[in-house]
Amino acid sequence: MKKLKVAIDGPAGSGKSTVARLVAQALGYLYVDTGAMYRAVTLAALRAGVPLGDEEALGRLAARINIDLKPLPDGGQAVFLDGEEVTQAIRSPEVNGAVSQVAKVYGVRRVLSRRQQELGALGGVVMDGRDIGTVVLPQAEVKVFLTASLEERTRRRLKELRDRGFTLTENEVREEVLRRDREDAGRALAPLKPAPDAIVLDTSNLTPEEATARIVALVRERAGNSV
Ligand code: DC
Repeated sequence: MKKLKVAIDGPAGSGKSTVARLVAQALGYLYVDTGAMYRAVTLAALRAGVPLGDEEALGRLAARINIDLKPLPDGGQAVFLDGEEVTQAIRSPEVNGAVSQVAKVYGVRRVLSRRQQELGALGGVVMDGRDIGTVVLPQAEVKVFLTASLEERTRRRLKELRDRGFTLTENEVREEVLRRDREDAGRALAPLKPAPDAIVLDTSNLTPEEATARIVALVRERAGNSV
């Protein structure tokens, strides 16, 4: 069967990463978490003390650093920044707080989008992010936009952070999710929005397995039709 490009976009906590990973595993496709790349640039900027308002310096930093994504046996992805594993470090509240500012910089997006296009060029890839169906892989055969209610997204994000040992209140996490939605959807460059040809899937009442099954069925149907 033909190997397709699958774009999965959506806001924080919509279940993108979990579902994209499961879809990739079910199909034997490569999983690419593009948010991890924006997070790695953000971590590098925080470590190097680059002011988050200095767009030129952020663009130069993105072009200079080396970000590697290595597939893990569980279908996940380990992230390396200049050879150092940062898979956990890029999920800290400090990075959560700064990443939207880095992600709106043209020079950063240009470098990372190009890299993502290279990774997706051959097909057989499930890529998750905010602008995959609209900007990075507009020719993807399957585009899914995941959503979920604010309460459900807050609950998921809180669990994810607590599982990692961070102590945050529900209110703090809800505020962070809302703020990031506003920044990601309101920015001028590659804002978060469904592609016109994306299928919108609300995961509030779906388990990750149920959402995965729907997307896998869609991919199989399209792949079958495009041989
Ligand atoms: O999916 P995530 O929470 O790990 O993404 C982190 C941030 O990166 C998010 O606030 C928006 C940004 N991002 C983006 O602008 N474009 C992408 N393709 C992926 C993520």
